[in-house]
Amino acid sequence: MDTRPPLPASTPLIDPFARAISYLRVSVTDRCDFRCVYCMSENMTFLPKADLLTLEELDRLCSAFVGMGVQKLRITGGEPLVRKGIMTFFRAMSRHLDSGALKELTLTTNGSQLRKHAAELAECGVRRINVSLDTLDEAKFADITRWGRLAQVLDGITAAKDAGLRVKINAVALKGFNEDEQFSLTDWCAREGHDLTWIEVMPMGDLGNENRLDQYWALSDLRARYADRFTVTDLPDRTGGPARYVRLEETGQRIGFITPLTHNFCESCNRVRLTCTGELYMCLGQEDMADLRAPLRASPDDAALEQAIRAAIARKPKGHDFDYSRQSVAGKVGGQMSRHMSHTGG
Ligand code: GTP
Ligand code: 5AD
Ligand code: SF4
Repeated sequence: MDTRPPLPASTPLIDPFARAISYLRVSVTDRCDFRCVYCMSENMTFLPKADLLTLEELDRLCSAFVGMGVQKLRITGGEPLVRKGIMTFFRAMSRHLDSGALKELTLTTNGSQLRKHAAELAECGVRRINVSLDTLDEAKFADITRWGRLAQVLDGITAAKDAGLRVKINAVALKGFNEDEQFSLTDWCAREGHDLTWIEVMPMGDLGNENRLDQYWALSDLRARYADRFTVTDLPDRTGGPARYVRLEETGQRIGFITPLTHNFCESCNRVRLTCTGELYMCLGQEDMADLRAPLRASPDDAALEQAIRAAIARKPKGHDFDYSRQSVAGKVGGQMSRHMSHTGG
């Protein structure tokens, strides 16, 4: 047993590989109004509502992290904006922006509820948001999201822009699905003034019939296609997330690449993720997690909670094990996670 006195709450969180943990991703619900094929199965079983942390508990947990040096808070899901009362939580978190402890409060959303919430998000101090959008074709959009309607999302994005929010579009790169839209999506983002980030599809969830290996499109290939048409310059820009950016000189546009498969960015990892039941995942690509709900509920005092957070960070692994080379099209073998992406919100 560790008998050393606990560290003061304000001591920064540093993991065993000397990485400072300054970015917390918080999944506030596992539910979503879409069923994107790479994120959820069609018949998902959701957590019973009674298992969820209350908004007050989420506030206490996030505030503890902010007190320990977290400067960037990204709210995710499922779809964060379908959680009842979520704007109360955004309001509460905005006090950490006001105090200066938090540098950024933001969210990753499918866009479906933005028309309703964009203005209030802006009022709460949210400045830029990430919206997942893989295609601009209505029929393909309906296919990939199973339940989504493109028009509703585009309308939500317009509402966000009108509210003064900067929008970054996240597109999962999928072979044979949106390969033919690389340039039309890029042009649309340029016209609308949105940043665009491409993401390599990660082998998560039950792959079932939809084998991710068939759909995997390496971003090195996508980048080469840009280079055929544009002058592509690497940028030093960092948003605190895993994306690396380039500029297309002819349009001045900034394009991001998130490449967990072709280029591992784990050496600079600064983040951990909290689920809506209070599990803390120290890595997106590993099974290990720490239960923070028990220490949270055990006492109104945060000492045990802070100790549990530090103990979890001390177990943060060096990186993920995603690997398509250990899988075959015929049947999966290794290098994938059985957990669905919606469990941790990416
Ligand atoms: P920015 O603040 O705009 O840089 O956002 P972000 O890239 O940190 O967040 P976003 O929610 O837009 O995530 C985009 C994609 O990156 C999602 O598919 C995430 O699953 C993935 N991602 C984010 N963090 C990690 C990570 O630590 N490891 C891996 N493998 N993927 C990650
Ligand atoms: N691989 C890569 N990205 C994924 N996302 C969801 N599932 C996957 C996956 N298997 C993306 C969503 C969203 C972000 C949070 O994660 O499209 O942009
Ligand atoms: Fe960090 Fe794990 Fe993502 Fe690597 S895979 S960047 S270690 S969370």
